Amino acid sequence: MKRDFRALLNPALERIEAYKVEGGQDAQVKLNQNESPFDLPMWLKDNILDEFRREPWNRYPDILPYRGMATYASFLGVPVESVIMSNGSNEMLYTIFMACVGVGRKVLIPEPSFSLYDKLAVLLQGEIVSVPLQPDLGFDVDAIIKAATQEQVDFIVLSTPNNPAGKSMSHDEIERIVSTCDAIVLADEAYIEFSRQESVVDLIDRYPNLIVLRTMSKALALAGMRIGFALTNPELMGEITKPKIPFASGRLAEITLANVLENYSLVTDAVRYILAERQRMEEALAGIAGVEVFESDTNFLIIRVGNAKEVFTKLREGGVLVRNVSGYPLMENCLRCNIGLIEENDRLLELLKSC
Ligand SMILES: Cc1ncc(COP(=O)(O)O)c(C=O)c1O
Repeated sequence: MKRDFRALLNPALERIEAYKVEGGQDAQVKLNQNESPFDLPMWLKDNILDEFRREPWNRYPDILPYRGMATYASFLGVPVESVIMSNGSNEMLYTIFMACVGVGRKVLIPEPSFSLYDKLAVLLQGEIVSVPLQPDLGFDVDAIIKAATQEQVDFIVLSTPNNPAGKSMSHDEIERIVSTCDAIVLADEAYIEFSRQESVVDLIDRYPNLIVLRTMSKALALAGMRIGFALTNPELMGEITKPKIPFASGRLAEITLANVLENYSLVTDAVRYILAERQRMEEALAGIAGVEVFESDTNFLIIRVGNAKEVFTKLREGGVLVRNVSGYPLMENCLRCNIGLIEENDRLLELLKSC
């Protein structure tokens, strides 16, 4: 072969990188991936596995996970035609971006925001219209509407509550964007269970251009099971389903989802614990000299320290793994620490005080 193999690949690969998580996956105290600190109880895992054992493992699951979709639709009280399930919400993001983005299509992304949005827009050769957050890391809704209108964007992606910045838009603000902008609007509600603001799922049958994204990886503590959902009106659903990978969700994911939703008090108890700890941590962190803490609507807190790289390393040496998010715009010297168990949070506080 005469040509360098790189010349044969998608040219957008030069502008993206493989996904990395700094610091690896194992740590004594793991606060870097916004996971729940609560695994499912053994009795529930046993029920799930008993059910899974009776499934035919030699047979493909359904092309789309209809059982899981029916379960989630009845849990939310929405028509099943408005629901699609995926292998984690990341898979659904790929699907939706493939449906909405192509060469030269304009994608509005508030920045900073979940890194996968930029990556997918670049990969699909869309044109990113980036709208900065406010200095307090809140959304600038007027600027979003102005940019969407002036630039005539095709697709708007909102992580609300926002990862990595932590803040939400209100229900009214999202409705204002959906109703005034001539674009498909994706509201990624990965952290909605921790938010002071209401979900916009109630708007999906009122607006033809709204898609809501959900994950079971955060409040529902199922990051290892890979379950996500998109919710939208049946017409738009028919279109965004077209690029979906067939057979992407396994039988175990559907069974797990049903069992967890039947025992939802496990989730509400965990969320109550995490919200109480978020409040305690916010106050405790604000009392540490040299630490600035930002208000959060998620299961993590953003702190600004003197030197994020140094503090990250000291925490890591002390057995606590957080995420260094200081490379994002407006987030210089910021660390993202998700809420863990009381003793894990205490360990973080102790180490930060000693830094
Ligand atoms: C805003 C946001 N969306 C989507 C995801 C993807 O979650 P999953 O693929 O585990 O459902 C994450 C994970 O961190 C996230 O923060």
